[in-house]
Amino acid sequence: MAKYKLLIRSARQVVQVTDTGARALYGSGMQHVAVLEGGHSIVVGLDGKITDIGPDSEILDKYREGDFTSVINASGRCVMPGLVDAHTHPVWAGDRVHEFAMKLAGASYMDVHNAGGGIHYTVDHTRRATQEELLESFCGRLRAMVRFGTTLVECKSGYGLDTDNELKMLKVIDEGRKSVSIDVSSTYCGAHAVPKGLTAAEATDDVIKRQLPALQNLMASGELHVDNIDVFCEKGVFDVKQSRDILLAGKAAGLQINFHGDELHCLNSAEMGADIGALAISHLEEVSRDGIEAMTRSGTVAVILPTTAYILRLSPPPVRQMITEGVAVALGSDFNPNAYCLSMPMVMHLACVNLRMSMPEVLCASTINSAAALGMSSSHGSIEVGKVANLLILDAHRWEHLIYQFGCSDVIQHVIWHGDVVHSKSTSATSS
Ligand code: NIG
Ligand code: FE
Repeated sequence: MAKYKLLIRSARQVVQVTDTGARALYGSGMQHVAVLEGGHSIVVGLDGKITDIGPDSEILDKYREGDFTSVINASGRCVMPGLVDAHTHPVWAGDRVHEFAMKLAGASYMDVHNAGGGIHYTVDHTRRATQEELLESFCGRLRAMVRFGTTLVECKSGYGLDTDNELKMLKVIDEGRKSVSIDVSSTYCGAHAVPKGLTAAEATDDVIKRQLPALQNLMASGELHVDNIDVFCEKGVFDVKQSRDILLAGKAAGLQINFHGDELHCLNSAEMGADIGALAISHLEEVSRDGIEAMTRSGTVAVILPTTAYILRLSPPPVRQMITEGVAVALGSDFNPNAYCLSMPMVMHLACVNLRMSMPEVLCASTINSAAALGMSSSHGSIEVGKVANLLILDAHRWEHLIYQFGCSDVIQHVIWHGDVVHSKSTSATSS
């Protein structure tokens, strides 16, 4: 009988990211990632958690290879934490490829939205889709994310916009969590848009008085698991007061506050979020100086979404200022029918080139800090004893290849989830 699940031996680099038990990295701390160089091994217990890390000689003295269910020789390769995608909208029907063409021809995101397209288009298709249809496409997307190295992902509802359809989406997220080898943090986003036929005030009431109580009942009976509450706080969608009321109602229901703010207009959403103890705020392209200061004081994580700013040609969020001021910066793919990107390595590359982040900053932002944005950095986001063994083995001698090789998933040799290999690159692929 094996005593341990997995031994990874002789890694050229073990990129721990942090080795201090830190729950998030800030400022210059994001510049210095912890890397063990030359011949290190990792031991994973039968529970899928890391039980030991050390130089090969030490580990091979302490353990016998026969004690392990599997052994991977990682000589010449890098081991790093699985990527954490802190913001996605992956449950929907009806793609919006036609809108991409409209946007390329000059239409803005809000032009399309106000003309009844955008989120409304996806809501129409998602409402008509069955739970089974949504589950099938959702699981396909989750599997693709795994192939790109994501091992923990935040997934939002938000294309139902009424009680039945929002619950349908949240159930799909729960089912997907059970069917695909990836960790999921689930977010209720019933206030993603004002549904056709309602005012924003009526929609706010519906979320607080009908949707949230229905969700709470299912959570209380153990039929549904939801972690976070989200709102699209934006001019022409939900204003700051409506957003605050919804988020506080969610917090009272036991959900973590994690919302869209200051994307297209500066509404001082960051100040509001910091004031009500938001765990994370996403987008922040238009955040104010005071908003950045407020987030530093409250410890609210900034979830930055480089794909959205890129596709919509928005002015980039002031990431350099956020890092200097001590905000914990995280990254997400924002996968949705507007920004169709499932690859965190591409997001990381865009963050370096377009947002002027360094590769170590981007690594922190896609591991420990994105886990922090989900309240999960005590168990995820770094290679430390006691943490879940969500790991990538790279077919490269330095971890930076994951970012440098833009759009190339071949650099990922194995994806390991809770100590099990859940994806390996096909043998026909060529390596560099
Ligand atoms: O984060 N801004 C709001 N929500 C999404 C877009 C959703 C959609 O367009 O379907 C975002 O970019
Ligand atoms: Fe989003």
